[in-house]
Amino acid sequence: ALKKSVVSTSRRRSQIRPAPAAEMTMKGLTEGARFDNEPDTDPVLLSNRAWAKSVLSPALFRPITDQSEVRTIGAVDDVFGRARKAMKEWKASTGTPARRSLFGAIGDELARNRGELINAMVYEGLKTFPEADSEVSEAIDFATYYGIMGDRLPRDFEPFGTICVAAPWNFPVAIAAGGVLSALAAGNSVILKPSPLTPRCAEMLAECIWRAGVPRDVLQFVQVPEDEVGKHVITSADGVILTGASDTASLFRSWKNDIRLFAETSGKNSLVISPTADLDLAVSDLVKSAFSNTGQRCSAASLAICIGDVYSSDRFRRQLEDAARSIKVGLPNDISTNMGPLIQPPDEKLYRALTSLDANEEWLVKPRCLDAGGKGQLWTPGVRLGVRPGSWFHQTEVFGPVLGVMPAKNLDDALAIQNGNKYGLTGGFHSLDPDEIDHWTENVQVGNAYVNRGITGAIVQRQSFGGWKASVVGPGAKAGGPNYVNQLGYVRDVQDRN
Ligand code: SER
Repeated sequence: ALKKSVVSTSRRRSQIRPAPAAEMTMKGLTEGARFDNEPDTDPVLLSNRAWAKSVLSPALFRPITDQSEVRTIGAVDDVFGRARKAMKEWKASTGTPARRSLFGAIGDELARNRGELINAMVYEGLKTFPEADSEVSEAIDFATYYGIMGDRLPRDFEPFGTICVAAPWNFPVAIAAGGVLSALAAGNSVILKPSPLTPRCAEMLAECIWRAGVPRDVLQFVQVPEDEVGKHVITSADGVILTGASDTASLFRSWKNDIRLFAETSGKNSLVISPTADLDLAVSDLVKSAFSNTGQRCSAASLAICIGDVYSSDRFRRQLEDAARSIKVGLPNDISTNMGPLIQPPDEKLYRALTSLDANEEWLVKPRCLDAGGKGQLWTPGVRLGVRPGSWFHQTEVFGPVLGVMPAKNLDDALAIQNGNKYGLTGGFHSLDPDEIDHWTENVQVGNAYVNRGITGAIVQRQSFGGWKASVVGPGAKAGGPNYVNQLGYVRDVQDRN
């Protein structure tokens, strides 16, 4: 069943300090760390920095080998043959004390390898150090939580068989871990197919799970070319857990009409700001939601919908502009970077969002590209004003560091704009009026509805994560929530004769 999670938190006001614009010498995105120009004034930061210095080293990042490549249809069939055989013994251990301690051991192994996992995410996924760090924590949370849920499966639960996890590059460890560990907890065997952009991150995850004791045939890691061989992996599986674009979900369905798909797909998420809001908090949450992970997350805030006077108020515009300009853009292996590069140069949609406006729109903050003569990966954040309902930017997921700002007459108008596209993943509302908050939570059409909080960074078990409308394909149980593991198998109704 599709459930809307409503999350409300209160937070201390955070102060946004404008900082000098980033200066950088680009010699190549994944070059060595540059820590030495930083003033070491803050003791906490200093110790983090010293630790990071010892971990974030290109010398420690070993790119993936081709050993796990599977290049032929026959080789894929062999992988599935081994997986199906191994699944029988694996499912028999569901619910046993040994299984429970195995999931605990997976969490321990991930924690032990935190530094190496971070290193892989920084050098391969181009994530900043804090983004990569929190991703390891999320993967550990998935191990703990799905271990518990696997222990609570209904009697006569029967796993589907062999599940393929098609992992994304934007959370190459945490989301891959969520897919793999949920499918394993339900007693399935798993084929982990990484994104071609982040194979080593996924391989390191698999290595942690193997070292903890999961047999190599129960979890197999395969790199496949994106051709007939890759297609054969998807169509051979008894279920596919996908986190990716809506178009990828449609492509998989076009390959196999009755594919059993568990997909969390695209979003076009917005945060509504009421005139009653705590504006400092709203702007801080908005900027973090729009630009963390360089805007490359399905949950990111792509639109701010400002009710009444908020839209044209000098204070709002100045704060938003200052906050966006204060983001330090740089290389991910620099510990002081707030926003790293895109994982690859922008595609056509993102390039349009970063470089051109529709009629009536104007830049509050115009994005600049800092490398490769304006066609590269390192962009400063962009904020466009005057986005209109129904316009290209209102309707299109661009997956990058651009925020559009839209005016709304009142709360119902704001809701119509917020609900007025085909997606429904995350949404936010900043208001200090309890009646407004009730009205908003009852009417917003998103899977994750956040009140007085940013709209990214759902926490496993506390804020289960998933979408409505075109943001979800399949049964729609939410990741990190109580129904996710249960949906990965059948329940046989066994009647006693008496
Ligand atoms: N789960 C992540 C978030 O909540 C997105 O994938 O932001």
